[in-house]
Amino acid sequence: MGKDVIIACDFSSAEETLSFLDRFTGRKPFVKIGMELFYSAGPEIVRQIKERGHRIFLDLKLHDIPNTVKKAMAALSSLDVDICNLHAAGGSAMMKAAAEGLTRPDGTRPLLIAVTQLTSIDQKTLENELLIEKPLDRVVMSYAKNAVDSGLDGVVCSPLEAKKVHETCGSSFLTVTPGIRFADSSSDDQKRIMTPAAAKAEGCDYIVVGRVITAASDPVAAYERCCAEFID
Ligand code: C5P
Repeated sequence: MGKDVIIACDFSSAEETLSFLDRFTGRKPFVKIGMELFYSAGPEIVRQIKERGHRIFLDLKLHDIPNTVKKAMAALSSLDVDICNLHAAGGSAMMKAAAEGLTRPDGTRPLLIAVTQLTSIDQKTLENELLIEKPLDRVVMSYAKNAVDSGLDGVVCSPLEAKKVHETCGSSFLTVTPGIRFADSSSDDQKRIMTPAAAKAEGCDYIVVGRVITAASDPVAAYERCCAEFID
């Protein structure tokens, strides 16, 4: 899979999501399904979106003991999604078990990527609550290294970290980056943002774009603008 734009479908119901996707009659977007939609609409929404020909990043961020994550990943693998994820904080044994669980009988599996540190965690929280007394960027790179050493395919990271992740983990290790805004759009609650064109220049492999597309007056035009800047 090459560079692509993934739309974060942060909707709370199947109806809203499917009617949103109905608008895309040309190029079929890669779709991110998160916890809100999965927990409210269930696995059936994954099947329905897949049947319509979209590729799917199932963003459920698993984090549990290795055996539980392995079995949960096996269940997700049967949904035929394209990308799954977990928390690198679960450790190498959990990441390796997850990759095993995801692997289908024919040896193929969805791409598996890791969340390093949530962007809601800052240096103060890292030190005062998690008792990790190291610079946040070093913790992120160390988790990314654990992910690549465990056989994972990439990480979710800020577009500002993508270059360093590629230097640390190799150019084929995927960087999937949210925090994307057009030069002329509002940043909403995102603090570290980049345009699709700048993310392309930083070497990001996938950009995850939510409100810039979902809240646009013309979502298809906003999506095509992202594609024009990032892929075409
Ligand atoms: O609307 P917006 O483009 O900000 O949405 C970004 C998407 O990426 C949301 O689904 C959000 O949960 C997700 N995300 C993020 N930052 C992270 C990890 C995931 O914004 N560090």
